[in-house]
Amino acid sequence: MTSRQQSITLAITGASGAQYGLRLLQVLTQHKTTVHCLLSDAARVVIAAEVNADFPARNAMPEPAAATADFLATHMGIDADYLILPDHHDWFSCVASGSSAPRRMVVCPCSMGTLAAIAHGMSDNLIERAADVVIKERGRLVLVPREAPLSVIHLQNMLVLAQAGAVILPAAPGFYAKPQSITDLVDGVVQRILDQLDLDIDIAARWVAGASATTTPAFRRD
Ligand SMILES: Cc1cc2nc3c(=O)[nH]c(=O)nc-3n(C[C@H](O)[C@H](O)[C@H](O)COP(=O)(O)O)c2cc1C
Repeated sequence: MTSRQQSITLAITGASGAQYGLRLLQVLTQHKTTVHCLLSDAARVVIAAEVNADFPARNAMPEPAAATADFLATHMGIDADYLILPDHHDWFSCVASGSSAPRRMVVCPCSMGTLAAIAHGMSDNLIERAADVVIKERGRLVLVPREAPLSVIHLQNMLVLAQAGAVILPAAPGFYAKPQSITDLVDGVVQRILDQLDLDIDIAARWVAGASATTTPAFRRD
């Protein structure tokens, strides 16, 4: 039995940057954190477009959740022992109820559509409902939006969510650690998400205290 404190809800939606969400899922499960992973239909399309064309659709046969779990374990290094994959409209999932939902949730990447729906309390699918629950229960909600440029509507929705206590953590990797690869860029963002979840996991270089901005920055990767 995994406690609500130990588990995390991770929603992956149809914004570009599927690698961020999948890497976060990989790190969390490999560190024995149970993840309730919610995938939107658009997320499946984007994962297929950006990461692996064979990623199962929501109606994959014979059993979509099993096919998805198997694919994530086989092709993406995700530890299936720590993976729970509720259906997009499974209102009986524990993440849909304030009495049983994990206290922490990440939406990564977060589309502008899902961000707008959460900002306005729509709760029309399990991702929107789970986020609504975390907000009302005063838990930790981390949103990782990806869009460019941002419209006034996008910005207003983000302000509403920040005022409701959510953390807006854009998928905007830093370059001060001199990333050598896409993996480094992805890990830089995922590290910031892990920090927001208060998890003691280090996957990316950190700024060394005392390093001067006028000298070559010193970084460490523990
Ligand atoms: C390849 C691809 C990339 C996309 N990139 C973005 C994006 O970066 N940001 C965004 O808000 N929507 C993006 N979209 C559009 C969303 O997928 C679309 O608005 C969808 O309705 C979002 O649904 P969801 O929030 O339920 O996942 C992209 C779609 C595709 C197919």
